Amino acid sequence: MKVTIIGGGGRVGSNAAFALQCGGLVSDIQILDANSELAEGEALDLMHGAATLADTRIYAGDYGRAKDTDIFIITAGLRRKPDESRLDLINRNVSLFRQIMDSIKSAGYKRDAQIFVVSNPVDILTHLATDFFDLPKGHVYGLGTMLDTSRFRSLIAEKLNVSARQVSALILGEHGDSMLPVWSSASIAGLPASGYKGLDPSSQRQLFERAKGSGAEVIRRKGGAGWAVGATIADVVHSVALNKRQVLPVSSMLEGCYGIRNICLSVPTEVGRSGVIAHHQIELWPKEQQALQASARALQATLKNVS
Ligand SMILES: NC(=O)c1ccc[n+]([C@@H]2O[C@H](COP(=O)([O-])OP(=O)(O)OC[C@H]3O[C@@H](n4cnc5c(N)ncnc54)[C@H](O)[C@@H]3O)[C@@H](O)[C@H]2O)c1
Repeated sequence: MKVTIIGGGGRVGSNAAFALQCGGLVSDIQILDANSELAEGEALDLMHGAATLADTRIYAGDYGRAKDTDIFIITAGLRRKPDESRLDLINRNVSLFRQIMDSIKSAGYKRDAQIFVVSNPVDILTHLATDFFDLPKGHVYGLGTMLDTSRFRSLIAEKLNVSARQVSALILGEHGDSMLPVWSSASIAGLPASGYKGLDPSSQRQLFERAKGSGAEVIRRKGGAGWAVGATIADVVHSVALNKRQVLPVSSMLEGCYGIRNICLSVPTEVGRSGVIAHHQIELWPKEQQALQASARALQATLKNVS
């Protein structure tokens, strides 16, 4: 399986490349970036680890060399300028994203290629990509609340001093302000989290707020998220590569799940060789369901303002 990381010279893209290299499941990682020198440098540095890590071929490339890509991972993005509004940043990123989609289309891509969107605003860009590419159903998806969910589970585990891999808890909805925690199905080692000592309602609120604010916290401390987002990108790619059929909170076009249509956001989604296989409408508490619908409405409003 060949992946091309567009924006692969940046922090998220290069960290994702490293996570994929450590996984050893993809055959080729092509690093593509507007800054070609940076792309060459990251590819070279990663390739130097091949002898120790995996036989993955890693190289810098261009759209012409990307034509045989199985999964395009798009991590190219811009950061907010001082005094710039969120919507202005959204529109600058949308315009950059449209150029990238045009470049993929004009160079050509496989009929069964997949587009995996990571750049923000991820749900909006996933929506635009779903409409733009003439690809089989399920072949366009975004990282959605994968990173938020990983942060949430890891923070719960840290608070309770239990194994993070045994904490099962989801964040759904928008990868943004209207995301919601799903406590109704949260569990630890298969047992309900609700009665767990140390998880009273006030701690639950704090844990969710910390997870939701983690992006800003990491930006403040080190400039931007990288390692954890790279790990969650690899988790999605590995689910495709091995047809694992994991149920993951990726973002994709909804067609009625939880009563939501024509909006990309995160619900429990089965991911395998053909990308998004199914959305699972697992029972939520009424207040969670309402929050999910509010999240869909928030995205709908943003979409209307995107130029
Ligand atoms: N979905 C998520 O959970 C999540 C998490 C973290 C970051 N992000 C997003 O990922 C994106 C990248 O973040 P980062 O920290 O890696 O930024 P970064 O500035 O480190 O990297 C961005 C890279 O994109 C490249 N680039 C810019 N325009 C390009 C173009 N037209 N074609 C190809 N490459 C281009 C830049 O040269 C740069 O190397 C941002 O949009 C960020 O908000 C998403």
